[in-house]
Amino acid sequence: MGLAWLSLLVALGGFAPRGADVVTSRRGDIRDFAVAARWVYVVTEDHLYQLDLGSLGLLHSLHQRGTYDVSSDGRLNRAALDGTGGGATFSVNTLAPLVDINVLLTCGAVGCGYCELLDLANVTRITHQEGYELGPIVPNNASVGFAVNLENQSYVLSATQGNAINDKGRLIIKEPHIRLHNTNKTQFGGLFSYTDKTRNPEIIARHQSVQFVDGFQINSTIFIFSNVNLTSEHPKVRLLWFQTKATKTQTLRSMQGAILDCCAGTARRRLVSSSVVPGDRSVLWTGIFTDHGTTDTELAVFDISPPSHTNSYRDPDFIFKDTKETQVGTKGRK
Ligand SMILES: *[C@@H]1O[C@H](CO)[C@@H](O)[C@H](O)[C@H]1NC(C)=O
Ligand SMILES: *[C@@H]1O[C@H](CO)[C@@H](O)[C@H](O)[C@H]1NC(C)=O
Ligand SMILES: *[C@@H]1O[C@H](CO)[C@@H](O)[C@H](O)[C@H]1NC(C)=O
Ligand SMILES: *[C@@H]1O[C@H](CO)[C@@H](O)[C@H](O)[C@H]1NC(C)=O
Ligand SMILES: *[C@@H]1O[C@H](CO)[C@@H](O)[C@H](O)[C@H]1NC(C)=O
Ligand SMILES: *[C@@H]1O[C@H](CO)[C@@H](O)[C@H](O)[C@H]1NC(C)=O
Repeated sequence: MGLAWLSLLVALGGFAPRGADVVTSRRGDIRDFAVAARWVYVVTEDHLYQLDLGSLGLLHSLHQRGTYDVSSDGRLNRAALDGTGGGATFSVNTLAPLVDINVLLTCGAVGCGYCELLDLANVTRITHQEGYELGPIVPNNASVGFAVNLENQSYVLSATQGNAINDKGRLIIKEPHIRLHNTNKTQFGGLFSYTDKTRNPEIIARHQSVQFVDGFQINSTIFIFSNVNLTSEHPKVRLLWFQTKATKTQTLRSMQGAILDCCAGTARRRLVSSSVVPGDRSVLWTGIFTDHGTTDTELAVFDISPPSHTNSYRDPDFIFKDTKETQVGTKGRK
């Protein structure tokens, strides 16, 4: 991801300003990007850009400021391009292209959790808007979200770091979790739901301090990378594997894991970014590791091919949990 990131920054710097759609290249501006089909999607502080993959020319841009309407299911009414009428900013932390169904999913926060479904070919065509908390609602908190395919059904996997949120004097603790969300309202539970009939399966972390860095699916394996116990004396870089199965529960239950030890015992125990190298039979993966002070970085290549399944696997940092479904219906939807 490191190399691609650099070339994107350069490409964005090369844009000629077009009226209100000025793409700036300030480093801090680009928060995330995704490549799918013939397009590149770039999220900045307050815009979503769609570029042509071949030329990196700007095709569409979507302004993320507006007024948030809490009535109905939640809707961001975009501000006029002259900047008037926008008090809220949709801060995107999950950007997931769903190529099979021609949809770009964006989720994040406008004060509360919020998601939109956009036309993959033209992001200014918004097909669905809803107040739903899929990623973290604290802007800038780390999360990973990407499309996964379980036996021909599309889902969005969200891996969200934990949080302590002060809600009118009441401290709400949110555990770091991994969930599989529906992408179609015809799937059981409705759009975005992570329920699996009568249970709500998820992976939760045993400790609060988890930062998800990257994740992807290759054939029938889902890979997720995270930093665990970042703030402690003994931080670790963790890899989790899941086998894609018929249901969300079976898939999440198949979790296995490993600790990625980088650099011959030196203290580089934090993963900054990563990239996968597609291979024929093995999966090679490159990670950039750093020490606590992020002064010293090292690039390491691992063979992360999944191990054969063992039924008795117990992970030191993550655990499968499925609570019974208690609420059904739009407002209490899981
Ligand atoms: C949702 O699924 C139904 C039934 O499979 C399909 O007809 C429809 O096109 C899907 N909608 C989207 C947005 O993919
Ligand atoms: C993109 O979608 C917008 C909104 O529906 C529409 O006005 C515009 O013509 C579309 N652009 C292209 C190139 O299809
Ligand atoms: C989440 O974001 C808040 C606000 O930006 C920040 O104070 C907090 O440290 C972040 N949490 C983690 C675990 O990074
Ligand atoms: C998935 O779709 C492919 C192509 O349409 C089909 O050959 C395959 O049998 C399907 N698999 C499942 C599990 O439904
Ligand atoms: C992670 O940190 C927690 C809280 O400080 C501690 O209880 C736990 O033992 C640590 N886990 C590991 C594996 O270091
Ligand atoms: C993934 O599947 C493709 C097509 O079946 C196959 O060619 C490739 O070797 C597989 N890759 C891995 C890493 O298993």
